[in-house]
Parts: sequence; structure tokens; C-alpha cells
Amino acid sequence: MSLRIGDTAPDFQAETTTGSIQFHDWIGDDWAFFFSHPADFTPVCTTEMGRTAQLAEQFVTRHVKPIGLSTDTVVEHVKWIEDVNDTQNTILRFPIIADADLGIAKLYDMIHPNESATAAVRSVFIIDPNKKIRLTMTYPMNVGRNFDEILRVIDALQTGDKFNVATPADWVPGQQVIIPPSVTDTKAAMSFPHGYKTIRPYLRTAKL
Ligand code: BEZ
Repeated sequence: MSLRIGDTAPDFQAETTTGSIQFHDWIGDDWAFFFSHPADFTPVCTTEMGRTAQLAEQFVTRHVKPIGLSTDTVVEHVKWIEDVNDTQNTILRFPIIADADLGIAKLYDMIHPNESATAAVRSVFIIDPNKKIRLTMTYPMNVGRNFDEILRVIDALQTGDKFNVATPADWVPGQQVIIPPSVTDTKAAMSFPHGYKTIRPYLRTAKL
């Protein structure tokens, strides 16, 4: 069965381009952006790896550690990183897991056999410091992911946790948030002393 939001992310030991890791220990008190890609030395993957490296500071600001995975070896990954750095004008420092035996890809349901029996599709898992899966996304092999959306959803999750709010469609930081229906008007008045707007009893918005 595939992994779902709210599940504990399965722990595993892995060889990576930055050494051997135990996944949960490696996450520590941070968040993780765990993403798979079909293969090294492929064009779409090269741009995604480069984009993740370029966004290193954005991830650090959010206390999120990126970690990639493909079903190639550490030796292949390390050679490929040189190409990523050269072609995407960056320095890739985050680990890439070598999963040549597909053990972790299968554990995380990253192998979709009708697409490929040996290569992972483009899965994303956002994992919180309690090691809970907070978001999953799956992209096809020929479509690169939108990294603005990945940062946006991390912002939305962390804002939701911090302020006990929800976020509307296309929300970005600075915009109005939604007061969840589970919060009473009395509690909302305490949480938002500068006021909130009731558009419908179930649709209340506020500025943080
Ligand atoms: C790529 O990563 O570039 C790619 C992988 C599989 C199919 C098409 C593109």
C-alpha cells in the first residue's frame, strides 16, 4: 500500500553522495524534502537537481533538508553531480541516495511498474521533524517539478502549524489565511485580536 499523509515516513539506512545515513537520524529536528528521479545523466533530472542546489538558502531558511534518490550508484551520482554543477551553474551539496537495488524506491512506492520496472517516477515527500509525511506529490518522468510550489507548500504547512490556520488557493506568505471551522468565534477573536472577516460562517479570513 502506498504511503499517505500522516503516516510515519519509513526509516532506512542508505549510501549517499555525502556518506552513509540513517534517514530519521539524518532528518533530526529539521524537515525533509525527499524526492526521487528516474536516472542520472538525464535532462529533466539534471535541471531539477540544479534547481534544488540553487535554492539551498531557501531550504535552509525553512529548516528543510533536501535529499534526492535515484536507482543508480554513488559513483554514477558523483560523476553526474559534476555535470549538474557545470550545466546548471551551481554547487550541489545535498545528498543523493544510491538505490541501485530499488529497496528504498519500493519502500516509498516510487516505482510505478506500468511506467518503468527499474526507474523511479518523480515522487515528492515533505516530512516534518516528527517524521510524519505531510505532503506527497507524484510527477511523471517527462515533467520537471515546480520548485516555487514546493517552497510555497512548505511555507503553508509551517504557517499552518505555527498559527493553527489553513491557507486558501494559491496562497503565498503575506496573504490572508483561513480560520479553520474547528476554531470557535470566541477562540478566533482571541487568536486574531485585530479582527477577522466572516464571509460565511464556515469561511473566515484573517491577516497574520
Ligand atoms: C529526464 O529525466 O530527463 C527524463 C527521464 C525519463 C523520461 C524523459 C526524461
